[in-house]
Amino acid sequence: MVKDDIKNASIIIQKGRIVLFPTETVYGIGANAFNDEAVKKIFIAKGRAQDNPLILHISDMNMLDSIAVNITELEYKLMDAFWPGPFTIILNKKKDIAKVATCNGDTVGIRMPSNKIAHDLIKESNVPIAAPSANISGRPSGTNIKDIISELDNKVDYVIDGGETDIGLESTVVRVINNEVKILRPGKITKEDIENIISKVTIDNNVMKEVSSGEKVLSPGMKYKHYAPKTVSKLVYSDDNNKMIKAILEMANKEENVIILSYTEDLKYYSKYKCLDIGSRKNLDEVSHKLFSLLRKIDDMDVNLAIIEGLPLKGLGLAIMNRLIRACNHDYRVIK
Ligand code: TXA
Ligand code: MG
Repeated sequence: MVKDDIKNASIIIQKGRIVLFPTETVYGIGANAFNDEAVKKIFIAKGRAQDNPLILHISDMNMLDSIAVNITELEYKLMDAFWPGPFTIILNKKKDIAKVATCNGDTVGIRMPSNKIAHDLIKESNVPIAAPSANISGRPSGTNIKDIISELDNKVDYVIDGGETDIGLESTVVRVINNEVKILRPGKITKEDIENIISKVTIDNNVMKEVSSGEKVLSPGMKYKHYAPKTVSKLVYSDDNNKMIKAILEMANKEENVIILSYTEDLKYYSKYKCLDIGSRKNLDEVSHKLFSLLRKIDDMDVNLAIIEGLPLKGLGLAIMNRLIRACNHDYRVIK
């Protein structure tokens, strides 16, 4: 079945049409990266801003040479350590290729996915596949077909259902600048993971802050509203868990018809309210895996306000908080 899907979908890609397919992070909407007309269809399907470039997905290192130039030793080292996997690296682009996918820029984001369906689809199509996350721009990324089919079904030419994605958050995006690694978007590959390869790793300022639309930034994706449920949502965090719970209960008391997104450990404190279980704080892989689905679920609960518990900004917690802060439209309170 999947074998047929790969064959069929690769023919669709070669014909310049677009395919919804799974990766280990989230689903993607893919097209032949070298076919500008095909890639334009992705921007239209998603309603994506014209200045927000797409990641090119490759199946082997030969494809890399058709896209990027002047690759440094450190960049090779990073690719070697984290590919195939949830890791995107921004490299210097070969002249005059993938103009639409890269928004006419000099750089290109490249990732070699580890998901077998994604890998086989790229290999069979025999071209790099440009693919953003599968969602209408601004909405949570799709981690299973059921969540996204109604918003994307009539906008794509073929759908491969690969079940729930493994990781649930999009890839870590990095750029090497002056022999230092800068994390532009945090993900499953953490700062700590990268520090095992090279000690100089920094996190781009925009990862946890609001970026205005006119600002020039290294990662254009950070400018746009993201991951947002339609319900008004607020994020609350304190290093002192009791203080966080107290603040959330006070907020919840003031509002009628609230839902609280709580870690499993804290659910017992919120028994008066509707709750969604985000998963255990001790298992952030589980939290990542279900996060986008939960954000979508908020809108089904018919509430006026969602209050979401935060996490410390370390390890995978940084990637989760980066998504949550945007889901809440930067309504983020840190209680001292
Ligand atoms: O896990 C993922 O990365 C998923 C799957 C489908 O591979 N893709 C994904 O794509 O999340 P998208 O388009 O939703 O996010 C790509 C991010 C955006 O923030 C974009 O601005 C950034 O990567 N990006 C892409 N090319 C870039 C470039 N040349 N320079 C700077 N940032 C770039
Ligand atoms: Mg996206």
